[in-house]
Amino acid sequence: MNIGIIGSGTMGNGIAHVFSLYDHKVILVDINEQILNNALETISKNLKRQFSKGRITQAEVNSAIDNIEISTNIEKMHCCDLIIEAVKEDYNIKSEIFKKLDAICNSKTIFASNTSSISIDHLSSKLNRRDKFIGMHFMNPVPIMKLIEVIKGKKTSLDTINFIKDLSKSIDKIPIECNDSPGFVSNRILMPMINEAALCYMEGVAEPEAIDSIMKLGMGHPMGPLRLADLIGIDVCVYIMGVLYDGLKDEKYKPCPILNDMVENNKLGNKTKEGFYRYEL
Ligand code: NAI
Repeated sequence: MNIGIIGSGTMGNGIAHVFSLYDHKVILVDINEQILNNALETISKNLKRQFSKGRITQAEVNSAIDNIEISTNIEKMHCCDLIIEAVKEDYNIKSEIFKKLDAICNSKTIFASNTSSISIDHLSSKLNRRDKFIGMHFMNPVPIMKLIEVIKGKKTSLDTINFIKDLSKSIDKIPIECNDSPGFVSNRILMPMINEAALCYMEGVAEPEAIDSIMKLGMGHPMGPLRLADLIGIDVCVYIMGVLYDGLKDEKYKPCPILNDMVENNKLGNKTKEGFYRYEL
């Protein structure tokens, strides 16, 4: 199958990694060559790590890399069977991209957004293929996490839902359906937990290490909420909380001031090497 992925950051490169490993032809699009080359380097490094752990063969590493084409030209996506959008969590940027793709692609191409929180119906509202529009929310890190939260818009057809569910299973993921609502299920539950953890830190209840250890040891979470916020990106968390706050009209979703300060100071977590924790350069 021909899979187009637009946005080659944290999520886009992980999504490209997985589809290429399952022998799909991937075209990965971003705004410049440097970003795309960095993404290819990350994919190659992660594939090699899987090889060194004995999970995949050298031949699979080589063919996965061969399966990926990079480009800054969105028009190259015209013949894709499925396009997955994984650009910044921003309604205007995403909807502009889908408008362009709607004009470029043939009528059969299915569009999926990896949005963490933005309404699927709102994103597809100006398109001619609302029946072929769906949310395909991968989890971070994509090569490891099994879940794909499949978000159905009001106009998404049953054929589109079944296509996405079958494809997800074929790449060894587990698709679970939900309806279109702010933050869907995963982030509606996860973000208030992260926000509460940030409040505990801000109010001096405990240090990040202690907060995370309590949640790991006490609740059996594989990763504490503040470490997870760093992995997701503090900016992404704040944006999602804004969508929850605007959509559900409830004060409880308002981001904690410390999170806003971190965004202002570019302490975005792993991607800027500093968030609740510091990371090696
Ligand atoms: P990121 O910031 O790491 O990557 C976004 C990429 O999109 C960048 O490489 C950027 O250059 C590219 N981009 C921006 N505008 C573009 C355009 N007009 N055309 C082509 N490329 C463009 O972001 P990340 O974290 O990968 O998030 C992407 C999406 O995935 C967001 O919607 C986010 O909410 C969602 N998501 C993020 C998760 C996470 O843990 N970071 C988890 C699940 C979903």
